[in-house]
Amino acid sequence: MSKDQRLWGGRFEEGISEICQDISESISFDRILYAFDIQASLIHVKMLEKQKIITTDVYEKISRGLRQIQKEIESDKMNYRPDLEDIHTHIEKRLIEIVGEEGKSLHTGRSRNDQVATDTHLFLKHHIKTQIVYLKELLGQMFELAQKNKQTIWAGYTHLQIAQPVLLGHYLMAYFWMFERDLHLLEFSLCETDCSPLGAAAIGGANYPIDREFSAEELGFKKVYANSMDAVSNRDYQMSYHFFAARLFIHISRFCEDMILYNSVEFSYVQLGDKVTTGSSIMPQKKNPDIAELLRGKTARVIGDLQMLLINMKGLPMAYNRDLQEDKIYLFDSIRQVTLGIKGVGEILNNITFKPEKVRDNLLRGFSQATDIADYLVSNYKIPFRRAHEMTGQIVLYCESKKITLDQLEPGNVTEVWGDGYELSEDLLKLESCIVRKMGTGSTSYIELDKQLEAASKIIEKFS
Ligand code: ARG
Repeated sequence: MSKDQRLWGGRFEEGISEICQDISESISFDRILYAFDIQASLIHVKMLEKQKIITTDVYEKISRGLRQIQKEIESDKMNYRPDLEDIHTHIEKRLIEIVGEEGKSLHTGRSRNDQVATDTHLFLKHHIKTQIVYLKELLGQMFELAQKNKQTIWAGYTHLQIAQPVLLGHYLMAYFWMFERDLHLLEFSLCETDCSPLGAAAIGGANYPIDREFSAEELGFKKVYANSMDAVSNRDYQMSYHFFAARLFIHISRFCEDMILYNSVEFSYVQLGDKVTTGSSIMPQKKNPDIAELLRGKTARVIGDLQMLLINMKGLPMAYNRDLQEDKIYLFDSIRQVTLGIKGVGEILNNITFKPEKVRDNLLRGFSQATDIADYLVSNYKIPFRRAHEMTGQIVLYCESKKITLDQLEPGNVTEVWGDGYELSEDLLKLESCIVRKMGTGSTSYIELDKQLEAASKIIEKFS
């Protein structure tokens, strides 16, 4: 870069070397901040004019110039050059080209340190707000699906072995609550992001009578950073967002893993539709759950994005350090993946067919009513639970040897295993009765699931 292209060239005799220019540049990724950079600059000059730090004439010229630059960028006319480092420099240089010397007043009482922090706060705030809407939509969709399937028997697993019958609505609501907690995290990260660093300048504040509160309000921020050093070096709000993203993706990856398994021939509990599956270039019969696999895979990079920011920040001396320029790489990636993740799960839910017959079959073959039999022996025959557990184990063993399921037991079979005095009613051995027998808030009984859905519907009502 020639010496006079730089914003800081005064005390330098030589330009930066080419390799250092490649290390330095961020225009390849921070150009997407342009609209927020211009918005913040427009407000900054408005404040400078209000405070009589610049004249009305200069203010108007700069504002016009900035609006023109926005149009140029939006019609692909900006000439991006790595030697101009970042988006801030591109816009400021272009402004000076358009309005001349007066454009040089834009940067009065401001540094790129508070400028980039302001842009990033605005950018993240904008995306969080959109993603709150997306996440609420997904919650509404999960709720509807759970409501629709509140009577359908589904398989509950522990250790990926059949455990107990549950309701499909109950299973879906487990994910509803996970995502609902993620919504709280996202809202928390919005609170942390809703704070204006503008006016902190490089580190210690400006040498002009600026009005930070005015700028903050005009930009839609709830408050201003109370400390200028914190304002330019803080990335906690990004950490909060990254943690939200990582946890959201942990949940997404678990849901996707279920769908991948359940869609297999071996399980056949769901069928994923054509819109969310892809074919194989060699095996004509294949319909692969690639979208669910990709979302599961993306979890790695979202967790990685959190790690990268944490590692970048560890032990950084106060206050701004250039290391911080890298934060945007992780942040932009995470934001993009979160949108894909939320929308992707919604698309999977839209293109799923549940196959409860196969589930029932496996529940029966997996002796899933065993806990209910043991509990029945306890309450009906006043047998201690450990003894009831053992007796039920014997019945399961018997069924296995006779190649029958628990619901096929005849009264004679029961006597054969346990001796006289015990009965197992046909009703008890039905899968539905395992559901009915469940008690306590949050259980999978029909009644408790209704209460759960009712609680969720109250939350959803407040969304709009
Ligand atoms: N591109 C830089 C960043 O993203 C802007 C701030 C530069 N500040 C500095 N003191 N060199 O962090």
